[in-house]
Amino acid sequence: MSADWVSVCGVDAIEPGMAGTVPVDGADEIAIFHTSGGAFYALVNKCPHKGGPLSQGIVHGDSVSCPLHNWRISLLSGQALGEDKGCTPTIPLKIEAGQVWLDRAAILARAGA
Ligand code: FES
Repeated sequence: MSADWVSVCGVDAIEPGMAGTVPVDGADEIAIFHTSGGAFYALVNKCPHKGGPLSQGIVHGDSVSCPLHNWRISLLSGQALGEDKGCTPTIPLKIEAGQVWLDRAAILARAGA
């Protein structure tokens, strides 16, 4: 488990039931989801179907509906739910001191560094 975390925003920056995005140089941006239950998750902001921006989907429970063709993606695993197949990479996230932190190594791996 990595001990190298980077703070990306305050927990108040993303309303419950909403999502925000974090740009990554040289790679797909990361979507941060805040569920109405108070949990936070980070996934690459790209649907496993045809790359739709998951951050613009509707969050319900611990999943999000892609805004393009309505696939449901688990926020815990990144897996497409139901009959659909595919997986979006997840990024390790923690909440500490009122901030959202992402695993720096996972971000760098996305950027190919
Ligand atoms: S691109 Fe997400 S459901 Fe098609």
